[in-house]
Amino acid sequence: HRTTASADLVLAWYDRHHRDLPWRVSPPMAARGERADPYRVWLSEVMLQQTTVQAVKSYFALFTSRWPTVADLAAADTEDVMKSWAGLGYYARARNLKKCAEAVAFGHGGVFPDTEEGLKALPGIGDYTAAAIAAIAFNRKSAVLDGNVERVISRLHAVETPLPAAKPDMRALVAAMTPEDRPGDFAQAMMDLGATICTPRRPACALCPLNAACRVLGREDPELYPRKAAK
Ligand code: ADE
Repeated sequence: HRTTASADLVLAWYDRHHRDLPWRVSPPMAARGERADPYRVWLSEVMLQQTTVQAVKSYFALFTSRWPTVADLAAADTEDVMKSWAGLGYYARARNLKKCAEAVAFGHGGVFPDTEEGLKALPGIGDYTAAAIAAIAFNRKSAVLDGNVERVISRLHAVETPLPAAKPDMRALVAAMTPEDRPGDFAQAMMDLGATICTPRRPACALCPLNAACRVLGREDPELYPRKAAK
């Protein structure tokens, strides 16, 4: 089946080329049964909203050494958290971060909800973040769609509807492609593919595991996707 084959290609590429990021469990570690810490996955996903992987790394290291668990962060002084956040921008995220830590620590016994719905009920967790945490930390088969994944999907399927109207179709395409057995790795593989191969400008299509299946490659300029609504 075509979608399953595509997911296998993406996962095989991820096994060889995944980025080693501090909040990840690498594929070999995962194969030995290690699971990502939901607190670290949540913290990284909140930090990565509107901020690059490179910029997030040092903040992630600082936060996890000062506050190793969600209970530590919940008990922290809000001013300390805000000061440690300085430089990441979008300070509403930091306030919601603290509120969310308190909700998990004091309302859920320090345990993150393990479903998209449960996660979405927490402060500062929207559709994308809930889907990402559910997939990466809890191996739920949720459809994870961020800007990188939108680019990969729009090119792979030559999606002609412009953003943002195309989002529901794109989410359905990602859902159909997401594998049962490694949904968290698949989500992160699609993000890495968008960040390193299927880039906005001059994508490295020769290195792409999906180049044979891509509907845009060889027909049109990939840079024209995703389509944007005319202003
Ligand atoms: N951007 C947002 N979340 C990410 C993740 N888990 N891996 C790589 N890039 C990301």
